[in-house]
Amino acid sequence: MVKTAAEIEKIRISCRKCKDVLNELGSFLKEGMSTYEIDEKASACLEKAGVEAAFKNYNGYPANICISLNEEVVHGIPSKSRILKQGDIVSIDVGAIYQGYYSDYAATFPVGKVDPIHLRLMEVARESFLKGFEKAVAGKRTGDVGAAIQKHVEKNGFSVVRDFVGHGVGKALHESPEVPNFGVPGRGELLRENEVIAIEPMINTGGSGVEVLEDGWKVVTRDGGFSAHYEECVLITRDGPESLA
Ligand code: MF3
Ligand code: CO
Repeated sequence: MVKTAAEIEKIRISCRKCKDVLNELGSFLKEGMSTYEIDEKASACLEKAGVEAAFKNYNGYPANICISLNEEVVHGIPSKSRILKQGDIVSIDVGAIYQGYYSDYAATFPVGKVDPIHLRLMEVARESFLKGFEKAVAGKRTGDVGAAIQKHVEKNGFSVVRDFVGHGVGKALHESPEVPNFGVPGRGELLRENEVIAIEPMINTGGSGVEVLEDGWKVVTRDGGFSAHYEECVLITRDGPESLA
């Protein structure tokens, strides 16, 4: 899904706005707040930024953003009865649409003082994104990105979720190629100049197994271990990876 320069400019604006909203939500959240309040704040921030919530109604998704706590991996639906408490880790995933162009960003934030192992988990999620990011260059393959992420995560004693993957992004939320957070260098799909991909490691303290709950959305770790998520959109060029926000 190679993009034109004009398309890339719109995706870039979408990405900046999306990342700004994510950062604002990260500094907004605090102990005692419901995840529903964060979703309402997200709605206000997205509107103020002049973008639409990309996840709302996506395959029937009922909220503006996804908020996944602790052993929840992704796709947590915000709720008035879900109250943040000290020690929680909060994965927030925001998607935006600007003039028809999509962006997708996520990060995990601590509530007050959290267990050092969970702090490390959040740090390794971001570090592993950066390892993958470095490989996101035209001529390399999705396996180069995935292998770099997997190596860093496993070296640190954590595991990589297999059931959900990164993806192309731009004219739709999910485009080809799939970008797994594991793999073999030199394998997978070729990365081409002017493609945009969302690289999004989801990593666990325990095993990599996950399951989808009865609401049809929320994904949790099978063993109850905590999970962290980090996601950014990246432009593929011949000279190297380019951060879009
Ligand atoms: N960032 C998520 C992903 O790439 C998007 C959530 S999809 C939604 O899978 F349906 F939950 F909105
Ligand atoms: Co995504």
